[in-house]
Amino acid sequence: MALLCLLLILGSFSLSSSYTQDVPAPRYNVSLDDPPEQRWEPVLKHYNYSLLREILDHFFNSVVPKWVHAIIRPLAEVELELYMNEPYAGEIRGMAKTIGVSVGDVVLLNLCYEATAFCTSIIAEDTNGNIYHGRNLDYFFPDLLRKITMDLNFIRNGQIAYTGTTFLGYVGLWTGQSPYKFTLSGDARERGGGWWKNAISAFLKRYSMVSWLMRDALSDATDFEAAALQLSKTPIIAEVYYIMAGTQPNEGVVITRNRAGPADIWPLDSLRGEWFHVETNYDHWLAPPPSDDRRTPAIKAMNETGQANINADTLYKVLSVKPVLNSITVYTTVMSAAFPQNYTTWIREV
Ligand SMILES: *[C@@H]1O[C@H](CO)[C@@H](O)[C@H](O)[C@H]1NC(C)=O
Ligand SMILES: *[C@@H]1O[C@H](CO)[C@@H](O)[C@H](O)[C@H]1NC(C)=O
Ligand SMILES: *[C@@H]1O[C@H](CO)[C@@H](O)[C@H](O)[C@H]1NC(C)=O
Ligand SMILES: *[C@@H]1O[C@H](CO)[C@@H](O)[C@H](O)[C@H]1NC(C)=O
Repeated sequence: MALLCLLLILGSFSLSSSYTQDVPAPRYNVSLDDPPEQRWEPVLKHYNYSLLREILDHFFNSVVPKWVHAIIRPLAEVELELYMNEPYAGEIRGMAKTIGVSVGDVVLLNLCYEATAFCTSIIAEDTNGNIYHGRNLDYFFPDLLRKITMDLNFIRNGQIAYTGTTFLGYVGLWTGQSPYKFTLSGDARERGGGWWKNAISAFLKRYSMVSWLMRDALSDATDFEAAALQLSKTPIIAEVYYIMAGTQPNEGVVITRNRAGPADIWPLDSLRGEWFHVETNYDHWLAPPPSDDRRTPAIKAMNETGQANINADTLYKVLSVKPVLNSITVYTTVMSAAFPQNYTTWIREV
């Protein structure tokens, strides 16, 4: 799969003009005041469930090993609560019922996206101390996923508690914002043969899904530091990079995660000239493999833009340079926690 992805990612380095046709993601409300089983119904009704079944088929035929089906499906039917916290168990159960598929299938769907996302995340601070956070999410079956990408406002007591970007049927968040506190994205750190074995055993130990911990932090963390701590220390089922940006100068960090805890913490340091960080899918202290170097072109484009000129528009342009933008890029989000209304996701038509 990694090889397939690398082949797909090959592209030229020119400034792309293909982003002119991009469309903003649809945006819906999810009410946290409704019971978990019911809160997705108003979102689901905007979609054709056959599309979702088509996506399930794609995943189950090409991404999920047979033995994982054999373990997860029966377990999900009878003992979901033993392995999943609320609200996720209830939300998954409710969605499965509405769409007309088994609970096990929706659990597997949610595990699938944990497996293999390729991504680029950038955090940056301009010369006035404004903080920007941008991300590309790259994934298999981009044509299908572009049709089910959405921005969601999670509403609690009539207020936006947090915002996130996800795919239909997926209850975790790989991209999100806690207004006036922080923004957050996740990029995969591992892949290859051992992934499923390690992830399933960690899941059975009740470690959190990577993207559920992100949603937990968006939902519960009182500030940037509390979120950074929660994201650093909570056990998760797979290795990942958590990229966070806050509202104050230097509030930006890339957290490199092992399953049990942090492997590295890499903060912005604008006084020492580190006004941005680029994280793709490789440890920042190692060179990326030449076959998948999206990091160097992103850094080059950031250098050319310059700290005085960085803003939401120029960050979007950096995320549109090939191969940072590539044939499997599903969406680009640009956000700044201090300006929560600016949160924007574009569905990429590459
Ligand atoms: C839903 O999708 C299926 C297959 O993808 C298609 O045959 C059907 O016409 C669609 N229904 C609507 C209402 O668009
Ligand atoms: C979404 O929730 C917000 C905040 O409560 C509200 O202002 C807005 O009208 C809602 N949008 C829709 C489409 O219901
Ligand atoms: C970006 O700029 C920094 C600081 O001037 C420099 O060290 C680095 O080599 C540049 N990287 C690229 C890829 O242009
Ligand atoms: C947020 O959007 C407003 C209105 O478009 C713009 O003036 C402002 O510069 C944006 N702020 C950031 C930090 O992107």
